[in-house]
Amino acid sequence: MKSWARRSKTLIIAAKIYQNWQMRRRFASGVIETEHGSSHRSKSLIESLSYIEEQFADYLRYSGLTPDELQGKKILELGFGDNVGVALKFLAAGADRVVGVDKFYSSRNPEHEREIYLALRERINERERERFDEAIDLREGVKFNETRLRVINGLDLEQAATMLTDEGILFDIIVSRAVIEEIFEPGQVFNAADRVLAPGGLSIHKIDLSDYGIFADGGMHPLTFLTIPDWVYRRMATDSGIPNRKLIGYYKKEMNELGYSARFLVTGIVGRAPLVPHQEQVELGSDYTTDTLKLVEEIRPRLCSQFRDLKDEELMINGIFLVARKPTS
Ligand SMILES: C[S@@+](CC[C@H](N)C(=O)[O-])C[C@H]1O[C@@H](n2cnc3c(N)ncnc32)[C@H](O)[C@@H]1O
Repeated sequence: MKSWARRSKTLIIAAKIYQNWQMRRRFASGVIETEHGSSHRSKSLIESLSYIEEQFADYLRYSGLTPDELQGKKILELGFGDNVGVALKFLAAGADRVVGVDKFYSSRNPEHEREIYLALRERINERERERFDEAIDLREGVKFNETRLRVINGLDLEQAATMLTDEGILFDIIVSRAVIEEIFEPGQVFNAADRVLAPGGLSIHKIDLSDYGIFADGGMHPLTFLTIPDWVYRRMATDSGIPNRKLIGYYKKEMNELGYSARFLVTGIVGRAPLVPHQEQVELGSDYTTDTLKLVEEIRPRLCSQFRDLKDEELMINGIFLVARKPTS
């Protein structure tokens, strides 16, 4: 989009409605390849390696999982995008099996992907390398050992869950990053995840609650997307992969309805740099300021009715790390 068009709310809405229609039509006609999720295509080798290593470290750090607890585990990665580096890190650390499920197929450069896996392999110890080599063969191209690393493209989790439960596969851990917010009605995905998660299993999701910069990057208020009427936003977001506008309260309710015991770490606050390390409580003075409150109040009268009366904190939190445990019985 041209830079002047990015400053017009109406033009952005029109463009997103068109893209949403286009994506729905493409998918319905059987085209699953998209540039969406091609996170590694524009990254250098070093950037890719740190992205993968940071994701893996975050899953452990914020869930409290130790490397010992990964031994023999079955893991499902939802929306892995164009790279299975995170899956390989789990396998190298001792997980028994990783299945990746992605509704689309993110375009990728196979040579660059192979380079990333080779470099990842160089950065792990000997024992980890043995397990790594059991999962992937990089001698010529990239070949997965399906009993260790299996990827499923073109199915959403509801469809994949039916297939996996028919095969008798249950997972100990389900992870995702930058995926849940792109699913227009994530409730159905949480229900499907629940079907394939073993009792006592962990669900770990990093969820961006921002507008992805769609309006904010054009200089508009970062909560502008919450001013668009539901019936319009639906036409922009059902299939295009832009954020679903669900806020932290929605995810708390979903986890509560599933009976999961959940922790929610805040990863960001509107108008501020990412909150690292992520934390369960945010405080005025240290994590946000009176300027943050002013920013929220400034737009409140223009928000759609379902957002207008929400607490300041709910509106200002623009990212979460969700760690939820399924009951054992
Ligand atoms: C922003 S990308 C993130 C990719 C990767 N997790 C990363 O951090 O680089 C979102 C990914 O979610 C996938 N996705 C979107 N909707 C999905 C759904 N309903 N089920 C499974 N995957 C989905 C997309 O195809 C894409 O690969």
